[in-house]
Amino acid sequence: MNDSLPALEVLPMARPEIGAREEKLVLDVLRSGVLSLGPMGPRFERAIASYTGAPYASMVSSGTAGLHLAIRAAGVKPGDEVITSPLSFVASANVLIYERATPVFADIDPITLNIDPAKAAERVGELTSGLLPVHLFGYSAAMNELEALAADNDLWIVEDACEALGAIDSDGRQVGSRGNLAVFGFYPNKQLATGEGGMVICATDELKRRIDSERNQGRAPDMGWLDHQSLGYNYRLSDVSAAIGLAQSEKLDDMLGRRTRVARWYSERLSEVDGVTVPCDDLGQNKRSWFVYVLQLPSGTDRDFVIEALKRDGIASKPYMPVIHLQPYYRERYGFAPGDFPVAEDVAERSLALPFFPSMQEGDVERAVTALRAALA
Ligand SMILES: Cc1ncc(COP(=O)(O)O)c(C=O)c1O
Repeated sequence: MNDSLPALEVLPMARPEIGAREEKLVLDVLRSGVLSLGPMGPRFERAIASYTGAPYASMVSSGTAGLHLAIRAAGVKPGDEVITSPLSFVASANVLIYERATPVFADIDPITLNIDPAKAAERVGELTSGLLPVHLFGYSAAMNELEALAADNDLWIVEDACEALGAIDSDGRQVGSRGNLAVFGFYPNKQLATGEGGMVICATDELKRRIDSERNQGRAPDMGWLDHQSLGYNYRLSDVSAAIGLAQSEKLDDMLGRRTRVARWYSERLSEVDGVTVPCDDLGQNKRSWFVYVLQLPSGTDRDFVIEALKRDGIASKPYMPVIHLQPYYRERYGFAPGDFPVAEDVAERSLALPFFPSMQEGDVERAVTALRAALA
């Protein structure tokens, strides 16, 4: 296992934990000759449904694919406006554009870094049909407030939980288990990795059947090869990936526990570094599922210089994450400009992601923080 690997010369941003169990289940799939649409998929789906306490789960080829199918199942229509966070990975807004809906951004809460429900309320208009909150960096968005807003305005909700498998919300519930459509992502840096992959969580058998059909070219439930009842996509995940996911799900709690331990080491050491803001503590019953370790540098820091200095010391780091509305495509298409969402922009400009993965040792964290301190000095 990774824990017994020799110390790393270069500390990477992320490192999935692939062990003997993943190898065994992948080999089982390879030897079975059934590489897709076999029995491993439903096993993986049941494991995630049972972990989150959600009634149904449908695996898909990526978090993006899952978000796309989820907003379609929620009922998005061309011309709709959907309120979402500007501080997220671009896919959470892109999927709305796929459906010819308009992403309407609302600024974030400066502490949790998730969409601010009061700002979201200000953006509700005639064309608003839904809310797409993002549980950024594994910390649940304010779901009670957002659900109240949705109920008052007859809006659907799709939760982008791509970064939040295993997070607990302010009611003490697993993210994804509230009855809204929710989507997890399994890119290699995620809490659970399948390479590429995602999972849509839903509350009814009807929704599951729709998602299962649309991920598979709109086929009928009996999978008749030439029976396509609706427009669909190829958003299937292979059984090879499902095998990795199933093995990962069996040790998810262990990996999350070790992620939390690494985050604590970071926060303890960084609390002594002047001007650096560390990720917020868990408020109330919330429990972050640690995905990345993102700090905010003091205002006015030359972040590129810091990244270069860390690199010379063998420490990877990234200016993560940028705001969506200032990406060239969004500026050009919607005319967004700096200053539109000042809280998100300030956080994005000062954010720095450090190496973060479950097998990191205390000495690795010490090394990264020492290098950061030197770069800031
Ligand atoms: C917040 C968020 N939304 C959506 C995605 C898209 O997931 P994927 O890369 O699996 O398509 C990601 C993953 O990077 C993400 O972090």
